[in-house]
Amino acid sequence: MTPSELLDQVRLHGAIPRHVAIIMDGNGRWARERMLPRPLGHRSGMKSVREVVEGALQAGVEFLSLFAFSQENWQRPSVEINALMSLLEEYIQREADELEAQGVRVRVLGDIDRLQGAARAAVDRVVAQTAGNRKLTLNLFISYGSRAELARAARLIAEDVAAGRLRPDEVDEAAFAQRLYTADCPDPDLLIRTSGEQRISNFLLWQLAYTELFISPVLWPDFGRSNLFEAIRDYQNRERRFGRVAV
Ligand code: IPE
Ligand code: IPE
Ligand code: MG
Repeated sequence: MTPSELLDQVRLHGAIPRHVAIIMDGNGRWARERMLPRPLGHRSGMKSVREVVEGALQAGVEFLSLFAFSQENWQRPSVEINALMSLLEEYIQREADELEAQGVRVRVLGDIDRLQGAARAAVDRVVAQTAGNRKLTLNLFISYGSRAELARAARLIAEDVAAGRLRPDEVDEAAFAQRLYTADCPDPDLLIRTSGEQRISNFLLWQLAYTELFISPVLWPDFGRSNLFEAIRDYQNRERRFGRVAV
């Protein structure tokens, strides 16, 4: 099926996930299969980002969360980290105006104080430039680890309690969720992980509680909008029960 036939199928079946999250994995293996250095796999993965952003816009997804760089990824060799940071800057430089024109609001979630120089400046610029848009919110998770996010939320709560702004008996799920980077986002409806890996790798541990999972064997640089539409079609056949009995 062509991408537009798949999109018709998606629309025909109604339930579009409001929030799709993707663990974009497999760039290194894509490069190795071609005897190329790993950074060229990351470079090739940029067009897949464009594909899924456009696919999400076409399908009417409201929130798209992309795991681009984990806190643990800081342990990779510095050549690879530097290549990823310059690609981030290049992506923003190339796409910012287009994203703005498409009505995309870009947000960057994670410990971004670790980003330096041009990458940090580019991130701040695109976030400010697109802040007024509402058609699609694109959450880029960079320097992000879910356990660190949860520990940070606990710290913020402790500070509020210590300062008398919050009583211990007011610490509930909502109070916690409000102190996560994703505070004003609904939980993901669908999580896609590419490259066949069957793990969460410290991504959105709190937010994925009832998310539907879709593991795709496709390596990230080969992932296009058709793959996104296929994942949504699969999601549309799921029965979400949230612990209740089927109706
Ligand atoms: C995903 O691809 C991109 C990042 C984690 C930054 P990988 O670089 O993890 O690719 P593989 O898993 O080695 O194939
Ligand atoms: C997860 O992929 C992080 C991102 C996609 C940014 P990794 O390749 O880092 O995860 P592991 O090491 O295989 O679990
Ligand atoms: Mg990987």
